[in-house]
Amino acid sequence: MKVLFTGGLGYIGSHTAVEVLNEGFDVVIVDNLSNSKIGVLDTIKKLTGKDVGFYQIDVCDKDALEKVFQENPDIFAVIHFAGYKAVGESVREPLMYYENNMISTFNLLRMMEKYNCKNIIFSSSATVYAQSEIMPLEETFPLAATNPYGRTKLFNEHVLIDYQNVHKDTNVILLRYFNPIGAHDSGLLGEDPNGIPNNLMPYICKVAVGELDHLNVFGNDYKTKDGTGVRDYIHVVDLADGHVKALQKVVREPETGLKIYNLGTGVGYSVLDIVNTFNEVNGDLVKYEIAARRPGDIDECYASSKLAEEEIGFKATKTLADMCRSSYEYQKNNKKK
Ligand code: NAD
Ligand code: UFG
Repeated sequence: MKVLFTGGLGYIGSHTAVEVLNEGFDVVIVDNLSNSKIGVLDTIKKLTGKDVGFYQIDVCDKDALEKVFQENPDIFAVIHFAGYKAVGESVREPLMYYENNMISTFNLLRMMEKYNCKNIIFSSSATVYAQSEIMPLEETFPLAATNPYGRTKLFNEHVLIDYQNVHKDTNVILLRYFNPIGAHDSGLLGEDPNGIPNNLMPYICKVAVGELDHLNVFGNDYKTKDGTGVRDYIHVVDLADGHVKALQKVVREPETGLKIYNLGTGVGYSVLDIVNTFNEVNGDLVKYEIAARRPGDIDECYASSKLAEEEIGFKATKTLADMCRSSYEYQKNNKKK
């Protein structure tokens, strides 16, 4: 069974490609390399020993995308990772985000409609949830986004729900990722953002290899156990497995319809938990200073992972130590020469 990955050379797509290939699916990747490198394709092939189709195209280019569907009339499912994902950049460049993240989905759905492809799994985010006093977040909780990036995720969810509503034979699975970190055990795949990272684990890794001096902990006066922000960090390989489970569901149950699942561990860790665990498993490498709160940050955010466990048998198995160890291994392999 062939699965089309959009954005399949990116951080989450590449790890998912490895797991999906290992489960015996065929994979075709489309990516415009706007935030990834072509070498990842060879790494995926090397890690799996499988061949992988690849098109260097922009999903917003409808003609180019149509060619992919024409040449692969047997696409069973699409996993739609392609998109821009930096919150701050989306505030500065809203149109760029709306164009890329929305048009790509419109084009894909048009092609799925035309070429009779009945299954789509979409990369959504915990960012679609409205701020809540109640934790853990359940899939039915109110939704609201606070920045253009978040709104593209929320709008995409609505578009996909409306599409499924009139294409009843189509299965749409919206996966709301919490905070993916970590890297493949081989140390060959991971997250390597350009410039100074915005997110916690990439920043910590750059401090650990000496590219940055210290971590600024954004606030220690949150309503949490140690005052620092709490999030649901999930190992990217566990997250990848969530996609395998979602795919297996639509294979098993062709009348799945619309499903929405959180992909998290259900456990919240604070910034200091992350720094301390990182230092325990990798050596005392990361110094930190307490800095001002980052605008827009919340006290805590973690998932109820019950529904995904009950309905698709998904359960994260990797520990925070695994996440810290593998993130650092990958960073060491990618240390700037
Ligand atoms: P990433 O940037 O590493 O991967 C995205 C990939 O899509 C990149 O390889 C990029 O080159 C490609 N791409 C972007 N626009 C494209 C286009 N128009 N045509 C073709 N290729 C295009 O990001 P990621 O962390 O792997 O995230 C994957 C998806 O998951 C994104 O949709 C993101 O919004 C979502 N998500 C990510 C996180 C996170 O923390 N990483 C959290 C929640 C949701
Ligand atoms: N943090 C620091 N110092 C840093 C970076 C982060 O203290 O240098 C703290 C933040 O204040 C927060 C925690 O570490 O408490 C996690 O921050 P991240 O930036 O790693 O992750 P966020 O939870 O803020 O954001 C992530 C994704 C967003 C997504 C959001 C909700 O990056 O794209 O989750 O799903 F919108």
